[in-house]
Amino acid sequence: MTSTADRVRVAVLISGTGSNMAALIDEGQKPGASFEVVLVVANRPHAGGLAIAEAKEVKALAIDHQPFGADRAAHEAEIQRLLIQHDIQLVALAGYMRVLTPGFVQGWRGRMINIHPSLLPLYPGLDTHARAIAAGDSEGGCTVHQVTEGVDEGEILGQIAVPILHDDTPDSLAQRVLAAEHRLYPQVLSELCRTLD
Ligand code: GAR
Repeated sequence: MTSTADRVRVAVLISGTGSNMAALIDEGQKPGASFEVVLVVANRPHAGGLAIAEAKEVKALAIDHQPFGADRAAHEAEIQRLLIQHDIQLVALAGYMRVLTPGFVQGWRGRMINIHPSLLPLYPGLDTHARAIAAGDSEGGCTVHQVTEGVDEGEILGQIAVPILHDDTPDSLAQRVLAAEHRLYPQVLSELCRTLD
């Protein structure tokens, strides 16, 4: 069994609900897990995921981006300070809806991953489900990938495809894809943390 001391120390960055974050916390709290979520950081003080993390006894903090205006790097410097303070080894973005600066991304190269609600390289960016339905695709899905400077462009670590039904709306498809995300993200993070140096 992996002792707590051996587990990769993970921080999850969120902007909202935090359902993927919750799935990661739960996985990391299982006996023998290869990682542990020890910190959650939100860029919005009212992000719902903060209370969920606290209820699961994970340290949860907000660094509001608004006072920083257009200075993304200054906002990220505050986040970086927290990551260092908590000895974070890997960062998992989970519905973190801010584009990161190249400097921050480079500092975490190979140790920052993201979940995206499409079968990348299809539909990077926003409104993925509406775009997949409008294109007449037979399936949507989700992808976990390494974070690089290009938005939603890094190496793909895992994907789950979800059939698109004839009467699907973006919301109904999003719900089924989200359920797949909750399976995919913990599995990929677990595997990655077993192989990290
Ligand atoms: C998830 O569907 C995630 O894939 C998506 O936001 C949702 C967050 O839900 N992320 C992106 O669109 C990133 N570009 P959650 O807060 O309940 O995990």
